[in-house]
Amino acid sequence: MIPKETIQDIFEASRIEEVVGDFVQLKKRGSNLLGLCPFHNEKTPSFTVSPAKGIYKCFGCGKAGNSVNFIMEHEKYSYPEALRYLANKYNIEVEEQEPSPEEKFAETERENLFGIHSFAQKFFTDTMLNTEEGKAIGHSYFIERGFRDDIIMKFQLGFSPTAWDSFTKSALNQGYKEELLIASGLSISKEDRLYDRFRERVIFPIHNLTGKVIGFGGRILTSDKTKPKYVNSPESEIYSKSKSLYGIFFARNAIVAKDNCLLVEGYTDVISLHQAGIENVVASSGTSLTNDQIKLISKFTRNITILYDGDPAGIKASFRGIDMILEQGMNVRIVLFPDGEDPDSYARKNRSADVEAFIATSADDFITFKTRLLLSETNNDPIKKAGLIHEIIQSISIIADPIIRSLYIKECAGIMNMSEQTLLNELNRLLRKKVLKGHSNEVNAETQLAAIDTEAIPVEQEPLLKTDDCSSQELDVIRLLLLYGDKTIEYFEETTSDEEAGSEITIAQLICNDIRANQIVFDNKVYQEIFDAYAKGVDENDIPNDVRFFHHSNQAIANCAIDIITPRYELSPGWEEINIAIPREEERLQEASLRAVLSLMHRRLSILITNTQKELKELSTDLEEYNEMYADLMSRNIFLLKARNSISNRLGRVLNN
Ligand code: CTP
Ligand code: MN
Repeated sequence: MIPKETIQDIFEASRIEEVVGDFVQLKKRGSNLLGLCPFHNEKTPSFTVSPAKGIYKCFGCGKAGNSVNFIMEHEKYSYPEALRYLANKYNIEVEEQEPSPEEKFAETERENLFGIHSFAQKFFTDTMLNTEEGKAIGHSYFIERGFRDDIIMKFQLGFSPTAWDSFTKSALNQGYKEELLIASGLSISKEDRLYDRFRERVIFPIHNLTGKVIGFGGRILTSDKTKPKYVNSPESEIYSKSKSLYGIFFARNAIVAKDNCLLVEGYTDVISLHQAGIENVVASSGTSLTNDQIKLISKFTRNITILYDGDPAGIKASFRGIDMILEQGMNVRIVLFPDGEDPDSYARKNRSADVEAFIATSADDFITFKTRLLLSETNNDPIKKAGLIHEIIQSISIIADPIIRSLYIKECAGIMNMSEQTLLNELNRLLRKKVLKGHSNEVNAETQLAAIDTEAIPVEQEPLLKTDDCSSQELDVIRLLLLYGDKTIEYFEETTSDEEAGSEITIAQLICNDIRANQIVFDNKVYQEIFDAYAKGVDENDIPNDVRFFHHSNQAIANCAIDIITPRYELSPGWEEINIAIPREEERLQEASLRAVLSLMHRRLSILITNTQKELKELSTDLEEYNEMYADLMSRNIFLLKARNSISNRLGRVLNN
């Protein structure tokens, strides 16, 4: 635990231009600095650093943040890791707060586990290289498989002896405790005896992102069908199968460089491809892909290419994985290997350049892949074909980007020999269903509605429902606070005649007072926190500026503020030009602020009105208190309508929705 004050010190000491400058060559451009973006490939620099605001922003890919964000993103560090990195860079002493006994226990438990895994890896490799048995059985197995020695050493492969407890004995001798051996899964306790989990197997260590060994896979050397081919480490404090990917440590740089991650099934596929010079590859280790694994990949690239051996059952099982990748907004392509080949065998039989060429040329996008595969099974049976269409459109509907969706629809129509319109109708039906069910991850309903390809919606469809969502109105209020909260304007009462002098007031005062007077609470918790900070600033006469939020110790707040201030896809080389783009708002801040606050109130009232009217409609006449309730609801309805009317008038425009 890093104390709050130290976090503040770290934020204050960190100069964004120095932090970024360690990784990116920056050139001065006006008051900003400019360089090539480290987060996407570009030839002309659009990565801008603002020393004044302490933030960076890429106008090519939209990435933006403060010093801590930069280190987290660039080095794939966690928040505390990034803080420690910066503390170290600026010689700030981090006096860790005394951890609680539980935290201490968990921490030492993890450290002990890393320790025993590191010891075990060395033991297995040493056994393979330096014992008679290891050389004769273990090392020779890898060599016969065609693994080169440099690759064997790089992946830290090894061998676990035939004897029941060689490893366990050696570990106990080194002072490792019995409980730790059991917790790591390296030893198994049975009838008061400890024996080795991996005995008489060749060993594949599993590494985490930073290269520490967190588990092992052990392959059998005989063809004894009564024993499992692979034995793997059990889950532990440091190893979770569903969150790890085999090979990620060795692949991470290549994945970024190629902007693509190859996904294979097993240990040997990863190693053989590496040996063929293809290093952007990881394995899900025989299990079906999980969301956590996809998230891990998405730290490095948005593109995944799945390499399958041609077993139809396995491929079908992978459809879910494809949908999960699409759901996370990533792109997925699929390579199918010829019958009987897997990436491992193919890489061993062919020259490196040919393997790479094969992967590049035979990668299908998911829609072609899935359509072709399923189409071959329908045998022109119309009912089966209809089911297939549904299945494929279902996958397309998961994609968030409407342009990509429509491209896939086109492609699908071509392959299936069907009209695009028919497919679009089906797509829109699915999209609408999702919106109505509120079944949308991350994307809110309003964006989804906007995303529906409206021109294709058949006329007889019911009108799209309104959503009860104030997020864009809330956003606008927070945006104005961040941009202009500390600005002072000359305020004129709405009813005052022109000659009278206005009073001096800050935008924060203007907005906060109005919002508080109307007891508005923000739905969005982060917005509420930013608002509270401004309201406190108003009360204490110390109004924050945007920069203070960029360096907020709460990451959600810092990210939100940065996102709001630096429009995501603005294709502009610098902030100066953004500021020029909105001079009119800056000149008419009173009007802009009032409009934002009033729009939020208007929206809130509209939602209340809709709900009240719905209650009125659904009120059952059977109820004893029907008359009373009806009158209540009616007067509430009238009150709300009046309130909204007066706001509409204040807004100076009649909103008819
Ligand atoms: N696997 C496992 N347990 C098994 C079988 C498989 O954990 N009993 C996992 C392993 O991670 C393995 C992957 O699934 O690497 C793929 O399985 P398979 O293709 O059978 O193994 P290969 O790695 O291809 O091994 P080999 O080429 O030596 O047969
Ligand atoms: Mn294999």
